[in-house]
Amino acid sequence: MQSTSSVPAHLAIILDGNGRWAEQRGRPRWMGHVAGARALKPIVEHCVTRGVDQLTVYAMSSDNWSRPAVEVNALLELLETQCRTRLHSLVTNGVRVSAIGRRDRLPLPMRRALSDLERASAAGRALHLRLAIDYSSRASMQGALPITSATQGTTILPPVDLLLRTGGERRLSDFLLWECAYAELAFIDTLWPDFSPAALDSVLADFATRDRRFGAVSATRRAS
Ligand code: IPE
Ligand code: IPE
Ligand code: MG
Repeated sequence: MQSTSSVPAHLAIILDGNGRWAEQRGRPRWMGHVAGARALKPIVEHCVTRGVDQLTVYAMSSDNWSRPAVEVNALLELLETQCRTRLHSLVTNGVRVSAIGRRDRLPLPMRRALSDLERASAAGRALHLRLAIDYSSRASMQGALPITSATQGTTILPPVDLLLRTGGERRLSDFLLWECAYAELAFIDTLWPDFSPAALDSVLADFATRDRRFGAVSATRRAS
């Protein structure tokens, strides 16, 4: 069931712009991912405060393997470290964490860090945070076709109410294509490492004004 609440039950974020953030400062791109990881913590906490039930973030796409090895390796190491160092505070805050995407191509220590975090946080009820890592929506949907041998399996999530992409691009880049069928879209120019809880509040305030009709006629017009 799709939510009709003024707060998105399911918020999905394409956290884009880390590389450009670093380049603008004359630093290597991987440093942008470090800054991006830092920016995520207050956003997760803010989602809890605002009553978002589910937050799905695009941390690494399957197409991101085609980036230079130094960047990919730094990103994977960072994700692993984040899973380990954030475990305690996520569990304390009642955040359940799970991962979607392929695991078979991830380094073993990272797979362990992910499953440790999933196990330790399984009872969390304040927010369900999903990390999309080595994720491809098309590959995920192919898993539903009987004739394919996709290794990813099929992961269909609850419908997305609001899809937010930072970093200025206006595209989905193979993220939650099915689940975004009736998602409201918010594209903002701020690079992810600069994204703040106050900026999220602006996006949420805009979402609250949207007239979501789901193909029907809105309640205010139904009488005429
Ligand atoms: C998004 O930032 C994070 C990942 C893809 C892992 P980018 O690294 O795509 O940043 P830009 O788009 O190059 O600035
Ligand atoms: C999408 O961003 C993937 C993540 C944010 C993890 P990209 O930066 O990889 O997407 P494109 O290449 O601009 O479409
Ligand atoms: Mg990008």
